[in-house]
Amino acid sequence: MNKKAPIGIFDSGYGGLTVFQEVQNAMPDYDYIYLGDNARAPYGNRSFDVVYEFTLEAVKFLFDQGCPLVVLACNTASAKALRTIQQEDLPKINPSNRVLGVIRPSTEEIGALSESRHVGVLGTTGTIQSESYLIELKKFAPDIVVSQHACPMWVPLIENEKYDHPAGIQFIEEDVKMLLAKDSHIDAIILACTHYPVIKDKIQEIAGKHIKVVSQGPIVADKLSHYLLSHPEMDVQLSKNGTKTFYSSESVSVFNEKAARFLGYPVAAIHHSF
Ligand code: DGL
Repeated sequence: MNKKAPIGIFDSGYGGLTVFQEVQNAMPDYDYIYLGDNARAPYGNRSFDVVYEFTLEAVKFLFDQGCPLVVLACNTASAKALRTIQQEDLPKINPSNRVLGVIRPSTEEIGALSESRHVGVLGTTGTIQSESYLIELKKFAPDIVVSQHACPMWVPLIENEKYDHPAGIQFIEEDVKMLLAKDSHIDAIILACTHYPVIKDKIQEIAGKHIKVVSQGPIVADKLSHYLLSHPEMDVQLSKNGTKTFYSSESVSVFNEKAARFLGYPVAAIHHSF
């Protein structure tokens, strides 16, 4: 039996921390390694091949740290790299390791959130163009009418903490209104990018109280705990000392400062360059 090891959580940058926080709150006993590829973020406008290559590098790094289970807490990586990694790379690297994404768990839940059966999806250009939400929602809630809108400026605004500036607010307003203009019956908006919960209050204010704005973090946390209950063979491989280790491909002083603001406690990351 191998040594027990942490759960790996990966995002292109800080956004995955919104998922990490919910997962960690729901399952505080487990050990976690968070990796943010901040130096190469955002991934949202990058090609399929580049997102796949970067995501595979990140997954291999987390496997090398011993993690038998990696969560891609990034929709762009889940949309563009997850399937290839699961089907082609995992069998070669380590068939008993697992890589999970955030799109499937979210689309499984969206159906229950809308009464009007009209749902909006906001995401990066990569996630929206991949049509992953349209494809997955067809399986889990085929009666739902989905409108999508890409917000290419939002991740840079959040990574650089410029979302409170007048220009940032203008981009957020414009994008939310563009989505709602596509379908006036939308009563739920899924934030299909793990960065967006940072600006959830602003999105909610623009959308209005009659629309549910939904973050993925709590959904992913809930699905992950159920996954581990139904996969004891994975659960026994995971260590449970309640530790959190952070890696960033960006300067750690920058990461530590911003991550501490996201999480509300001090962070001491380790640098990893790809
Ligand atoms: N948090 C990532 C996501 O969920 C952002 C991707 C990016 O770096 O553009 O899609």
